[in-house]
Amino acid sequence: MKQEMMTIKSQRQLAPRIFEMVLAGELVNEMKQPGQFLHIKAPRADLLLRRPISLNQIDPVKQTCTIIYRTEGDGTKAFAQLKAGDKLDVMGPLGNGFDLSGLKSGDTAFVVGGGIGVPPLYELSKRLIEKNIQVVHFLGFASKEVIYYAAEFQALGKTRFATDDGTFGLQGNVGNLLLAEKQQPDAVFACGNNGLLKTVEQLYPQLDNIQLSLESRMACGMGACYACVVHLADDETGLKSAKVCEDGPVFKAGKVVF
Ligand SMILES: Cc1cc2nc3c(=O)[nH]c(=O)nc-3n(C[C@H](O)[C@H](O)[C@H](O)COP(=O)(O)OP(=O)(O)OC[C@H]3O[C@@H](n4cnc5c(N)ncnc54)[C@H](O)[C@@H]3O)c2cc1C
Ligand code: FES
Repeated sequence: MKQEMMTIKSQRQLAPRIFEMVLAGELVNEMKQPGQFLHIKAPRADLLLRRPISLNQIDPVKQTCTIIYRTEGDGTKAFAQLKAGDKLDVMGPLGNGFDLSGLKSGDTAFVVGGGIGVPPLYELSKRLIEKNIQVVHFLGFASKEVIYYAAEFQALGKTRFATDDGTFGLQGNVGNLLLAEKQQPDAVFACGNNGLLKTVEQLYPQLDNIQLSLESRMACGMGACYACVVHLADDETGLKSAKVCEDGPVFKAGKVVF
């Protein structure tokens, strides 16, 4: 983990409240694993806590990385004001991302995401395809209007969409999409809200390789402050915990309580 003033190469709006930002800097050389995140200082002196944002793409040749974020509060709104050429104070890469080592050529992986959980799945999917793994994407959004990266995912492989209001793809959530799927996966990778993650966990009770990317409120982002703890599932005392920032954000299904 390092810190750098990275340079913004570009910023564009993809959908209402959704922005894609490309950053350049030497920090990219450290970025190896999909599912890791950056801890980014908002460009406002009064906002002290960094904001955790997932890596969406890593390009070691161009020495750039891409993030996709949704404006929520002051921090992300401040990100959205920035322009190409501006600098951003970035710490990272942080956390344990998705582990592809349990998969072999020809295996099938389901890549499941909802809303603002979709960005880290793009780099993941690219890496899976490089390993000759058959990828099927299951992406859920609130409505057609807020869908982003549809063409990008479709260019990588089979992609099924669900929207809550039925304006694009299947009406319902990704759970409905997964239920409609006949094929059986060798692994499932998911990122989204806790409801989505729980559905994934419940739908594949026999599957050993399910990896879930969790979100939690963070402060330090590197394991020192305990702001982001979750309890371990197999601990009857309820005293043992894991830190989402350091031990996660990706955990094997069944490992932690969320
Ligand atoms: C590992 C990880 C990866 C993430 N990846 C993305 C991503 O790729 N794209 C994206 O849009 N969002 C992502 N988020 C959520 C993002 O961090 C929050 O939306 C963002 O921090 C909100 O900041 P704000 O200043 O706009 O809002 P505020 O509500 O003003 O934030 C105040 C404080 O709460 C923290 N906070 C608020 N919401 C969250 C949240 N949902 N998760 C964690 N901390 C939060 C902020 O870090 C900050 O310290 C990720 C969160 C985590 C934990
Ligand atoms: S945010 Fe400080 S320990 Fe995780």
